[in-house]
Amino acid sequence: MESAKDVVIIGSGAAGMMCAIAAGKRGRSVLLIDHAAKLAEKIRISGGGRCNFTNLHARPENYLSQNPHFCRSALARFTPQDFIALVEKHGIRYHEKKLGQLFCDGSAQQIIDLLRRECEAVGVVRWMPCQVRQVRRTARFELDTDRGAVTAQSLVIATGGLSIPQIGASPFGYRIAEQFGLHVTPVRPALVPLTFAPEELTAFADVPGVAVDAAVSCNGARFRENLLITHRGLSGPAILQISSYWRPGDAIHIDLLPDHDAEALLLAHRHSQTLLPNLLGQHLPKRFAQAWCAAYASAQPLRQYGEGALEAIAARLHDWPVRPSGTAGYKKAEVTLGGVDTRELSSKTLEAKRVPGLYFIGEVVDVTGQLGGFNFQWAWASGYAAGQFV
Ligand code: FDA
Repeated sequence: MESAKDVVIIGSGAAGMMCAIAAGKRGRSVLLIDHAAKLAEKIRISGGGRCNFTNLHARPENYLSQNPHFCRSALARFTPQDFIALVEKHGIRYHEKKLGQLFCDGSAQQIIDLLRRECEAVGVVRWMPCQVRQVRRTARFELDTDRGAVTAQSLVIATGGLSIPQIGASPFGYRIAEQFGLHVTPVRPALVPLTFAPEELTAFADVPGVAVDAAVSCNGARFRENLLITHRGLSGPAILQISSYWRPGDAIHIDLLPDHDAEALLLAHRHSQTLLPNLLGQHLPKRFAQAWCAAYASAQPLRQYGEGALEAIAARLHDWPVRPSGTAGYKKAEVTLGGVDTRELSSKTLEAKRVPGLYFIGEVVDVTGQLGGFNFQWAWASGYAAGQFV
């Protein structure tokens, strides 16, 4: 038999559950549908299992989108403090790791349990696992699912992006947007390790696992954090951050000594017997300094370099260009850049301007946060915003 709801939400992840809670609190009857068997797997694996659930400093500037102002309204109406209040209401202990990033002391499962309990408290019904076969719009939205038919006054798409397909990511949200004639901006993996052609980083093949505190720049963005040498290329927070700004063909520029004047440092030792890798090894991991010198500067005593050579080495230490061949792809990406074009949506309600009653929230929208809890904050804020209107 066909059931009828006020609101059907497809995707029971971070944004979908937050929307369900907000709509349920307003007395709306809500059905959450998800094709996965396990609830909110992406939350469970987030933040290394501890869920970096928000960032104290979340601002529109922390998001990438073709319209950088779009996220402003929703972010202003559901702030990090609002989510922290929920976390505290459920007695979840948390800490700031760095740079405003809040993590659970225990595990990410606590955030899933919080959302599940809040949903239950307002009578949200969940169909999981459940495949949506077809969506039609007549006077209401009509859905055919493998659990039967259901109609809704409002349909919310919260199916997320394409990253980590092995735990349920799908292009469903983009297909629904296209079915209703809405534009989707090009998508690509972001917050993702960068890979290199074999010849580009051969000198570093023997130092996988080494972390370097560096500043990495590309296309006007700059991040000061660790970068990590891996078997396939570069990773670590600085690289994940810059990957969102990198485009195929671009070089990224690495400042290996962001706290020092490399030229002054080298010239101060220009009459010394110290080997260059040993001097650099005082400021960089020793094995990395050796590999870097072998590739770009040799390993002589400093007094054997001319002043011009030292200046050139110093310049490269502050601006070491490396050209990725690609990214590690959706299997390793934390998020998807691009998505449902924000010009199609109201920034206040997240409703499609041309399809009344159809809403898009969370990562499926062309709003992508930087690393550090910003993506969950967008999921909470956009879910909450839509939940006031569905
Ligand atoms: P989300 O992906 O959470 O949920 C989408 C739901 O839709 C899923 O349950 C999926 O099964 C369902 N679905 C998909 N297709 C469907 C279909 N066809 N039919 C029915 N259901 C369907 N962010 C952050 O702020 N802090 C962090 O610590 C991390 N850490 C992190 C680690 C890793 C490894 C990854 C991959 C990602 C992160 N992120 C993160 C990013 C964060 O997880 C992500 O941005 C949010 O989960 C997005 O929330 P959504 O609700 O939009 O999608």
